[in-house]
Amino acid sequence: MIRLAKRTDAKALQYVEDTCFPSDRHRILYPSMLYMLRNKHALFLVYEEDILCAYVLVLCYDRNRFARIYSLAVLPEYRRRGIAEKLLIDVEQRCKKGGLKLEIRDDNLAAMDLYKKLGYSVSGRKRGYYEPTVDALEMVKIFDN
Ligand SMILES: CC(C)(COP(=O)(O)OP(=O)(O)OC[C@H]1O[C@@H](n2cnc3c(N)ncnc32)[C@H](O)[C@@H]1OP(=O)(O)O)[C@@H](O)C(=O)NCCC(=O)NCCS
Repeated sequence: MIRLAKRTDAKALQYVEDTCFPSDRHRILYPSMLYMLRNKHALFLVYEEDILCAYVLVLCYDRNRFARIYSLAVLPEYRRRGIAEKLLIDVEQRCKKGGLKLEIRDDNLAAMDLYKKLGYSVSGRKRGYYEPTVDALEMVKIFDN
């Protein structure tokens, strides 16, 4: 089931974050997680089965034409069952913007395949964004409406 994240989800969300991005210096730390749960520009969705097993966080600032997918994560034992795809489709339905954009590590082939499957295309590259040897790819999907 997909639902909006609540403040009481903070610890479960942090568990997903720390499990999915164990060595990523860009991962969301607990104070930022709490801040995002209060942020009125954040669309924060969770996916729940027996436990909270995935989330997507999107930032939708008024002045920006595109909303930004800030983070997306699914616990390892829940992957390859369409959960990320369902979360992203839900985001598209709720998002009142001209489109969605995001950055991913250029070595994250699973995420790249996921976004390509959903119609995103690569729009740029930021050299050394994640680590000196790891670039970010910018991806974008423009809505028709
Ligand atoms: C990337 C991630 C979010 C995908 O979640 P998921 O729920 O397993 O993805 P889905 O089951 O919805 O997969 C949908 C599509 O994505 C692609 N995909 C997902 N995982 C893949 C993998 N390991 N290898 C190749 N393609 C993959 C496929 O095209 C898949 O469609 P298919 O099942 O018809 O082949 C998940 O692997 C994850 O949390 N990774 C760690 C965190 C991360 O990298 N987040 C994204 C960057 S912010």
